[in-house]
Amino acid sequence: MPHSTENNIVAAKIQEKATEIVTHPVPGRLLDSKQCPTPHINSMEQYRAMYQQSVEEPDKFFGNLARELLSWDKPFETASHGSFEDGDVAWFLEGELNACYNAVDRHALKNPDKIAIIHEGDEPADVRHLSYGELLRDVCRMANVLRSLGVRKGDNVAIYMPMIPETMIAILACARIGAIHSVVFAGFSAESLLDRVADCGAHIVITSDEGRRGGRNIATKSIVDNALSKEEAHQVEHVIVYQRTGSGVPMMENRDLWWHEEMEKARPVCSYEKMSAEDPLFLLYTSGSTGAPKGIVHTTGGYLLGAAATVKYIFDVHPDDVYACMADIGWVTGHTYILYGPLTLGVTTVLFESTPTYPTPARFWELIDKHKVTQFYTAPTAIRALQRLGDNWVDECDLSSLRVIGSVGEPINPEAWNWYNEKVGKGRCAVVDTYWQTETGSIIISPLPGCTPTKAGSATLPFFGVQPVLLDPATGAKIESTDETGVLAIKNPWPSMARSIYQNHSRFLDTYVRAYPGHYFTGDGASVDKDGYIWIRGRVDDVINVSGHRLSTAEIESALASHNSVSESAVVGAHDDLTGQAIHAFVSLKPHANVSDGLDQELVLTVRKIIGPFAAPKRIHIVREHPKTRSGKIVRRILRKIVNGEHNQLGDTSTLADPSVIPSIVSQVHQ
Ligand code: WT7
Repeated sequence: MPHSTENNIVAAKIQEKATEIVTHPVPGRLLDSKQCPTPHINSMEQYRAMYQQSVEEPDKFFGNLARELLSWDKPFETASHGSFEDGDVAWFLEGELNACYNAVDRHALKNPDKIAIIHEGDEPADVRHLSYGELLRDVCRMANVLRSLGVRKGDNVAIYMPMIPETMIAILACARIGAIHSVVFAGFSAESLLDRVADCGAHIVITSDEGRRGGRNIATKSIVDNALSKEEAHQVEHVIVYQRTGSGVPMMENRDLWWHEEMEKARPVCSYEKMSAEDPLFLLYTSGSTGAPKGIVHTTGGYLLGAAATVKYIFDVHPDDVYACMADIGWVTGHTYILYGPLTLGVTTVLFESTPTYPTPARFWELIDKHKVTQFYTAPTAIRALQRLGDNWVDECDLSSLRVIGSVGEPINPEAWNWYNEKVGKGRCAVVDTYWQTETGSIIISPLPGCTPTKAGSATLPFFGVQPVLLDPATGAKIESTDETGVLAIKNPWPSMARSIYQNHSRFLDTYVRAYPGHYFTGDGASVDKDGYIWIRGRVDDVINVSGHRLSTAEIESALASHNSVSESAVVGAHDDLTGQAIHAFVSLKPHANVSDGLDQELVLTVRKIIGPFAAPKRIHIVREHPKTRSGKIVRRILRKIVNGEHNQLGDTSTLADPSVIPSIVSQVHQ
């Protein structure tokens, strides 16, 4: 099997050092109907019975759930179809529905004044409320604008926008007319944006003049202009520009259109496209071990069901809740847990434009207090950063509205979990450590608020319909013993799993279902304890996770290779107390390279420019030579150990072409 288990073993060791593991019962308040709405699932017996049905009779379980949570234009007859082996997984085949109708219309028609979106702008005083009725009208206007520009069912539309309601309007407008949205995170560089826009063949890009974040302006339109400057490299005909800051950006004649001018002309009523359950809803590009980013394809019916079902059960959402997910809409967490999940259930969702520390480290807590947030969802990296800044920021706010607080994106260390539980949750909220991926569409492993006892650092138990197994990385054999780390795989298809990689189905099959035949391969290592609780140990492939951002070492290496002094580079992840992992790049230089003092900085800038600021290496190590096998392959395992302080446990290095390179690398890293 192709995957090294090095990363997860490092993570497992870190975990083992943690003090004894405490089991936290469900806080009594959540089960007291005088204080809280009765949880949808309030006993382990109920969870177990539902779980059992979901895996033994998935068609019945998910058929019922799909009829309960979604509105169908045409009912399905078949719930699940296909297999990993045949690569033809599909759900609700004959069914037809529209994701926008489910997320907007049906609530707007019944409850037009209910608040759909609370926009907490970059400045705390800048708050906008959008009702479901208003949202429907704006989505219809934008859908008409897109249609008038020739966008039809099945076309791709690229969206490169900041965290404003118009981004959600643009996404929903695409879904309404059956266009496939490809949102590109607004932290990506012009080059990365171009790669994605070109790959999906979009004719339309939607952006804003600028974005605002942490008191600063972000030049979204100018990045789009740069990305599109090579006209032969893409198929974009129009750029729709929303005026966020009014900074006066140049507009290209015949190509660029102002959002507000087009919206004014458009009618706020627009028919929606009846989509097959298996028609693609969106693409989202994500990094893998190798090669170009993959356009992960999610389809309409199964994805929407996963989004709605997990918000209902894992966040235990009830009709009057105010649900706040702090992720960026440009990542899958934003798609599923800011937009599709909460809106499909018809609750109020918070869209947060700023950062956790702007203007002060009380920002999250003030937001919860101000909007009376009931569910709050963020990443371990943010929790750790805020924990470091001191308790007084939290203590000053009234967080009594909270019932469920969630964590996602990387393993959460017990110290951060405990702080989140005690300081933010005050010991009276459910803490849900939710494990999933872009490819899984929605959460697949997590506690449920009203029933699952929790352990700091464990994502606990599988969600309905998901059968996790641990496999031996080398043989693929099932690991039955407890506390042994293996690769995490899923035995069966579930509704919201990705269906393909855009225009590359064989790459999809090779990556996810052929590595361990008959299983979906997550790329993560994990172990299971004596209670059946799952502990995620981190990636086992060449993917690194920095502050919950997923990065491919190969992509960073190829960015470094574009610098004319670089001969070869190897990028590895080092444990980092704040960001989970940090990027270390080992670079060897060309013989006549100009070694100046500023070279490190130049290399960092190259990566920022080619991928985006979030991919910047934390350390650059210029080395004479990399540790290599006799056939010339760089042995990243050794570099990984060196940066993780395990240079005394390198194992047998005698098979290297030149073992003598190691001491100098060690002394350079640990000078
Ligand atoms: C990778 C997926 C969809 C979530 C946002 C990131 C890591 C995610 C957890 C968790 C341990 C986690 C995994 C996974 N991850 N959640 N609760 N505990 N690790 O989505 O960019 O597709 O990254 O994030 O390594 O494979 P993504």
